[in-house]
Amino acid sequence: MFIKNHWYAVEFGHRVAQQPVLAQAYGQDMVLWRSRNHAVNAQSAVCVHRGCSLAGGAVVDDALQCPYHGWRYAPNGICVKIPANSKGVPIPKNARIRVYPCLERYGFIWVFLGDLPAEQCPAIPELDGLESHREARAKGYKPVFGDFTWKANYERVLENALDISHAPFVHSGSFGNPDHPEILDFDLDITRRNSHVVSVTASVDLEPSPPSGFWRLIARRDQPRVRTTVGFYPPNVSMLIVRLALGELRLFSAAVPLTEHRTVSKFCMLRTFFTSAWADRDAQRRTYRIFLEDQPIVESLQPKQLPSEPLAELHVKSDAIQLAYRRWRQEQLVKGWGLQTPCQQGL
Ligand code: FES
Ligand SMILES: [Fe+2]
Repeated sequence: MFIKNHWYAVEFGHRVAQQPVLAQAYGQDMVLWRSRNHAVNAQSAVCVHRGCSLAGGAVVDDALQCPYHGWRYAPNGICVKIPANSKGVPIPKNARIRVYPCLERYGFIWVFLGDLPAEQCPAIPELDGLESHREARAKGYKPVFGDFTWKANYERVLENALDISHAPFVHSGSFGNPDHPEILDFDLDITRRNSHVVSVTASVDLEPSPPSGFWRLIARRDQPRVRTTVGFYPPNVSMLIVRLALGELRLFSAAVPLTEHRTVSKFCMLRTFFTSAWADRDAQRRTYRIFLEDQPIVESLQPKQLPSEPLAELHVKSDAIQLAYRRWRQEQLVKGWGLQTPCQQGL
């Protein structure tokens, strides 16, 4: 299932320059590239001449040139040049590629995937704590970025990022504490704008894991509980804030649905401690380690897709955030915004 008519974060802004970059969303291939004025274009990656991938093309004179016969497409998708045509031969009217509404904010490129008229589109999510301009930044935080690919549906990946109670089991080797699996009661903080849910978060105090390695040398022995905030910004971004004695970690992660059963998490991990460049590698390594701990579990979940019924599977109190996601999803399905199968042109 894919929820259409929303803004999806599909790539980092800093990965998109003039050279076209392939982005995929539920079976649709798109190219992202930057115009001279720095605006990012999101267009269908399929050339209408013979179907060549425009991701292998180049930008020439502020237009995207196909690598096969050199047809050129302007940012508005209209073909402006067919090199094999003699001078004066008109370009066919339907020589154009689809253009997706596209915005750059919070360090991500957001593409609107759907068929609603612009004035009815839900707004782009606002990622609390991040500055909205190009690079993902927050004052005093140092970011690292990365991709992690899963053989799993994006909603399973997103829900896993919201799931608090798996940490003592799946992450007992890193931040989870297997001796304290109970989750204290927490409240959901749900924000709506124009009747659309724009964020759902919850904060809970978790028992810290016993420190290991290097961290054992600098951590206090009587470690206080760790105030942790988890949440999501529909449709595909999750957020985690961990307040350690040393400082704060913030993980923003976009679960990009490449296909029905493949997802890439585009993550931005920010930290307020050890902010010099030498610690970047360690921050990145720790983030990948967490994803690697999750991977076999998430890829094993059955059914592969989230059930359509909101109350299918069993839910307990500590699943409240995932349940909030399923309620949000159900609202979208009622509107007819759920797509069962991937399609090239259907979004
Ligand atoms: S396939 Fe693109 S120009 Fe021919
Ligand atoms: Fe996890």
